[in-house]
Formats: sequence, C-alpha cells, structure tokens
Amino acid sequence: MTQQTVIAVVGSGYVGLVSAACFAEIGHRVICVDNDEEKVRLLNEGGVPIHEEYLPEMLGRHRRGSIEFTTDLHAAAAQAQAIFISVGTPQSDTGDADLSYVDVVASEIARSIDGYKVIVEKSTVPVYTNEWITRILERNGASRESFDVVSNPEFLREGTGVTDFLHPNRVVIGVESERAAKVMRRIYEPLTSGEYYNLPHAVPGGRTASNPPPLLQMSTKAAELTKHATNAFLAMKISFINAVANICDAAGVNVEEVAEGVGMDDRIGPKFLRAGIGYGGSCFPKDVAAFRWVAEQLGQQFDLLAEVEKINSQQKKLFFRKIRSALWTLRGKNLAVFGLAFKGGTDDIRESPAIDIVQMLLKEGCSVTLYDPAAMERAKTVLAPGPQVQYASDMYEAARDAHAALVLCDWQEFAAVDLDRLRDALRHPIVIDGRNLFDPDAMLEKGFTYFSVGRPHSASNAKVLKSI
Ligand code: UDX
Ligand code: UDX
Repeated sequence: MTQQTVIAVVGSGYVGLVSAACFAEIGHRVICVDNDEEKVRLLNEGGVPIHEEYLPEMLGRHRRGSIEFTTDLHAAAAQAQAIFISVGTPQSDTGDADLSYVDVVASEIARSIDGYKVIVEKSTVPVYTNEWITRILERNGASRESFDVVSNPEFLREGTGVTDFLHPNRVVIGVESERAAKVMRRIYEPLTSGEYYNLPHAVPGGRTASNPPPLLQMSTKAAELTKHATNAFLAMKISFINAVANICDAAGVNVEEVAEGVGMDDRIGPKFLRAGIGYGGSCFPKDVAAFRWVAEQLGQQFDLLAEVEKINSQQKKLFFRKIRSALWTLRGKNLAVFGLAFKGGTDDIRESPAIDIVQMLLKEGCSVTLYDPAAMERAKTVLAPGPQVQYASDMYEAARDAHAALVLCDWQEFAAVDLDRLRDALRHPIVIDGRNLFDPDAMLEKGFTYFSVGRPHSASNAKVLKSI
C-alpha cells in the first residue's frame, strides 16, 4: 500500500485545485492554500469555483476527509512534507513570466520551515527558477539542508485536467537530490505502480494497472525546459496547421483531409492539428512569449516562435475578414455567437480568441447575442450586457432573428445542435464556423450557407447572400 504524504498546494486555481483534488484522490492528505478569502470560503462551503469534469465529484468525495482549504500558508507549510507552488505566473510587459507571486509564496514558506521540506514548482516558470527559489528561501532564513526545490511541470488541459492528471502520458520530475526524488516518487506511486487504476472509484482514462504512466526523472533545469518546449511545440503545431488551412482556403482544398494525411505519419501524430481561430488560454500565449524571452536571455534567437505568434494573431483577423466577406457589411448586423471561452469544455476566458473576435465585431457596429455553456458569467466582466451585447440561455435563443451565427468554441453541445431548429431561428441561414465543428455537406443539405476554416465553403442559396 502506498504511503500517505502530507501535501500543501499553494494556489487553488485551474492547476492547483485540480492537482490538490487528484493528490487526495490517490490517497494523500492535502492542504489547499489560497490568499483569496472568498475562494477559500466557497470551497469550504462545498462550492467549486471552476468548471472541470470530475472535479465536483472528487471534491465531494474528499472534502472534510483528506482535503482541506485554508488561507493560512504558514500553518500549511509547517505541516506538509511537500509544498507545491501553483500560483499564477502571468506574462509581464516584456514577455517574460511575472514571478512576483512565486516570490511572495517562497518567502513565506521559508519562514515556516521547521524540518525537511520538498518545495515543488508546479507553475510554469523559466529555466533557472529553481535556483532563484533556492536563493529566496535561503535569504529568508531557511537553512540549505532543510529543503530541496523540485520542478514538477503540469501538462493539464483545462476541462480535462482531472483525466490528464490521473492518466498522464508521463510524470516529469526535475530533482537534484535523491532525498527529494524519493518523496516525489512516493507521491506519484499510486499512478506509476498502477495501483490507483484498480480502485472501484478510479476516474476512467487511458491508463490501466497493466499500463501505468512512466515517471521521468531529470535535472530541474531540464524539467523546466521540458514544460516550455512542450507548450511551444504544441502551439507551433496549431499555427502550422492554421497556415496550411489558409493555403487550403486559397486552393479550394479541405484542410481536414490534409491534417488526416499528415497526422497518420506517426512521427507527427494526429493531435493538435485542428485548424481554427488560433490558440488562446492562460498557457500557450504566455508560454510561447516566455520561452522566447528565456532563449533571448541565454543569447539564443528563437525566431520560429515569433512566427508562431504572428500566425496565431493573424488567424483571428483572417476569420474576421471571412465574416465581413460573408455578410458584406457589418454595421447594424445582429450576430449570434456560440462560444466565449478560449476553447470548449472550460469556463476560462483568459486570452480567448472568441472574446477578441466579439470585440472586433462590436467596434464595427455589430450587435451580438452571446451563448456559452459555462463562460458567460466570466465573459460579462469584459463584455458587459447592454444595447449591443445580449446574453442568451441557449443556442436557439441566441440565433433568434440573427443575420448569421458564428461558432467560436468547440463545445460538444454545439456540434449536437438541432440544425433544423437553428436554421429556422436564424433570420438568414448563415453559419460561419471558426472551429470546423460541422460537416460542410451536411450543412449544405440542411439549407445553410456555411463557411469554415480551410475548407471550401458551401452555399445552398446564393439569393440569401444578396438579400442581406
Ligand atoms: C497555472 C500556473 O500556475 C501557471 O504557471 C500555468 O502556466 C497556468 O496555470 P492557473 O492555475 O491557471 O495558473 O492560475 P489561476 O487560476 O489564476 O490560479 C492561481 C491561484 O493562486 C488563484 O486562486 C490565486 O488566488 C492564488 N494566489 C495567487 C495565491 O494563493 N497567492 C498569491 O500570492 C497569488
Ligand atoms: C495547455 C496544454 O495543452 C496543457 O498541457 C497545459 O500545459 C496547459 O496548457 P490548455 O491551454 O488548457 O492546455 O488547452 P489546450 O487544449 O492545449 O488548447 C489550447 C488552445 O489551443 C485552445 O485555444 C484550443 O482551442 C487551441 N487548439 C488546440 C487549436 O486551435 N487546435 C488544436 O488542434 C488544439
């Protein structure tokens, strides 16, 4: 049976809260710390502040048992054997990661150390941060033998964070001492031994007791770079397929056929080759910029990443142009917008291309009726309801009497829409799809004029376009 470790997780955001719940799920005792009193109160009262599959069930299972929530970092750090830092590391004005939250947390941890602790960077941070955290800890009074700093990057996609944590491709730990490595191996043992997958309540996923995830042990700097390089590579894959999609648009070719052909080469792989309106979220934009900055600091030019960013920001503008050319004029048009989050399956709107596109439309004098299954409350903080901006409670209400519908997120719910009802609700049956959710032939058959990304557009009725 795996030995229980007392773990403190500092920062109860998308990464911290999911990690904390998963550590409890695999048998550890977890103290979740956040300096946001309101969030801690909500968590203690049984609320779940973010939209993540399986998270409510898991918190329900472990709350008041092996997981607790507090604002008291000092007490949590004193009790814990391992302290995971997962506070935000936002992008600063110069492109590098702003580590001020990590700084505050590390200083406070230093003042609470009363025995050997493993301090784990979970937040995405530049290479050398482990050395920087070590210095902060020492400067604030922690003796060098009382702690080790470890890098344990997360590869959690929002929306599927729980499954990604419990069924990982790999667990990466960057360590410099065998003592710290031992603690880390023990923490992940329920996964790496396969034991977790035999539990009756185990969350389903790709891993099984006979096919458990590998644990990769490397230097701390290598682990930090692994995280940045992984996200930069994935962002590059998306920008690559978006650039190919634009060529497909010009050549009248379906990019999905090309992506399928390319992705079947197992040196490339089929994932992250979905063309669309570009990547967003709290990680890719920030991590690509931060990795470029890191390279520059080390005297290396990583111009490929500048191109990745350029293609990504152009992609939104190209989609906007597509909307304009489909509708001819924008001023005074009312558009139904499906999706506001940075992707389907989450309520997170950070760096959402959907929000940027809505803002461009508002600037051009359109009015919009917005619908998203989970992100509307957050969206209201940046797109306040008013004469130009309305919110609807479902897709059909959003579509009512609209000049066209835009698809900006890949929610499964959108793909399952009743197309007859949608067509009947719209003033003109025009759908401009930034996520390639629908089959162009099926849309044509249903009587839509349909535009998507990198796929020849289908118009069922040329008169529709002339009438608007
Ligand atoms: C994470 C990682 O930390 C980031 O490095 C990674 O690249 C993306 O994901 P995320 O979990 O998405 O960030 O951030 P967020 O949802 O903003 O959560 C951070 C939490 O830390 C918040 O709940 C905030 O209240 C808390 N916090 C912040 C503290 O408890 N103390 C602080 O000093 C600062
Ligand atoms: C990402 C990483 O995938 C994850 O490992 C972790 O490091 C945190 O950052 P996340 O930002 O939650 O996860 O979402 P992800 O599913 O990676 O999507 C990021 C963006 O890329 C979204 O805007 C998504 O719509 C877009 N995307 C993704 C595409 O446009 N095409 C694709 O094929 C895949």
